[in-house]
Amino acid sequence: MSHNFETQAVRIQTERSQFSEHSTPLYLTSSFVFEDAEDMRASFAEEKQRNLYSRFSNPNTTEFVDKIVVMEGAEAGYAFATGMAAVFSTFAALLNSGDHIVSSRSVFGSTHSLFTKYLPKWNIETSYFKVNEVDKVEALIQPNTKIIYAESPTNPAVDILDLELLAAIAKKHNLLLVIDNCFATPYLQNPIKFGADLVIHSATKLIDGQGRVLGGVTVGKADLIKEIYLFSRNTGPAMSPFNAWVLSKSLETLALRVEKHCENAIKVAQFLEEHPKVNFVKYPFLKSHPQYEVAKKQMRLGGNIVAFEIKGGVEAGRKFLDAIKLCSLSANLGDSRTIVTHPSSTTHSKLSLEDRLEVSITDGLVRCSVGLEFVEDIINDLKQALESV
Ligand SMILES: Cc1ncc(COP(=O)(O)O)c(C=O)c1O
Repeated sequence: MSHNFETQAVRIQTERSQFSEHSTPLYLTSSFVFEDAEDMRASFAEEKQRNLYSRFSNPNTTEFVDKIVVMEGAEAGYAFATGMAAVFSTFAALLNSGDHIVSSRSVFGSTHSLFTKYLPKWNIETSYFKVNEVDKVEALIQPNTKIIYAESPTNPAVDILDLELLAAIAKKHNLLLVIDNCFATPYLQNPIKFGADLVIHSATKLIDGQGRVLGGVTVGKADLIKEIYLFSRNTGPAMSPFNAWVLSKSLETLALRVEKHCENAIKVAQFLEEHPKVNFVKYPFLKSHPQYEVAKKQMRLGGNIVAFEIKGGVEAGRKFLDAIKLCSLSANLGDSRTIVTHPSSTTHSKLSLEDRLEVSITDGLVRCSVGLEFVEDIINDLKQALESV
C-alpha cells in the first residue's frame, strides 16, 4: 500500500530492536558484530545486506536515506556529513579526468569554487549558462560533457530554472541531469518527476529546520548511487548516526514546517513589494517573479527564501542589517529563526560587480530566510529596519 508524503515521513522506520521501541533509537556504534567467520566472510562479500561499519551504513543513516528516497521518488541514496560533501562526492564518483560539466552560473559559492578551483586539478572543466539563458545550454555541450547541473530555486537570488527543459536537453544528448534541490526540499519539488537523474540536498537547511546539525544527501538512479556509495565508502564523507537521527526526526515535521515557512514567506514578500524603499522583490510565487509560471509548474509552494533589493546600494544594505532587531544575521538559512544576509558585502564581496550581476546579486540585494516566528513580528522588524535606511 503506498502512503502519502506526511505518512511516509512519520512511518518509514528502521527495523525495531529486541526492545520494540516506538521511536527509533540512536545507534551510536562505529561497527557491528558477526556471528562467526562465515557470517563475516559472507557479509564482506556482500552476499548479505547488513550493516558492517558506520562509514558504509548505519541504521540511523539508512532510515534517513530511505525517507528522502521515497519523498523524492528515487531508487536509492547515500547520506553525507554536509551538503558540500554530497556535491563533491557525486561529481568525484561519476566523473573521470577529461570530462566536462555544463552548469548554471547561479550555484552556491562553494559549488562554484569546486568547479573553478578543485575539479580542474583533475582536468574536469565546467561551462556556464545564465539562469535566463537555458536556450544556450545545448550550444555549451561538448563531446566530453557528462553532466548538466543546476540549482532551482537558486541561492541567493531565488531564480527558477525549468527542470523539464533541462531534462529534455540532458536526455537528447545522453547526459546526466543533477539538481541541487536544497531551497525547495522534497516537499515542494521533486526534480526526478521532471526527468532529473540525481537530486542533492544540503540537509543542513530546511530538512533539519532548526539550525542544529549539518548533513547532505544524494538520491536518484540505483546504478549511479552504487558508484557514489562505493566512492564514499572508501573516501569517508559519511553522515554521522547522530545527525541522521536528528534529521530523520526533522523529516517527521517537514511538511508542516515548510507549509508554515511558505505561508509566512509570501506575506513577507507581499509586504516588501509594497514598500517604497524596496526596488524589487524576488519570490517564486509572486506574479512579478520573472519565472513565476515555471515555479508554479514545478513547485508546490514558493519556499521560504525572499530576495529583495533595497534602494541605496551597498550602504543601504549594511544600514538595514545594522537596524535589524528580532531577525538574526547569520550565514545559515532554512532555520526556524528568520535570518537576513546581505550577499554583496559578505558572501559575495570578493566578486566584481560584473560577476555579481551575472548571478543576479545587485548591491542592495538582501536574502531573507523566513522563519516560523509570528509573521507580523517578522514584518514589523523588517519595517522598522527599512525605516532607518
Ligand atoms: C544551494 C546549496 N547547496 C549546497 C549547500 C552546502 O550545504 P552545506 O553547508 O550543508 O555543506 C548550500 C549551503 O548553504 C546551499 O545553499
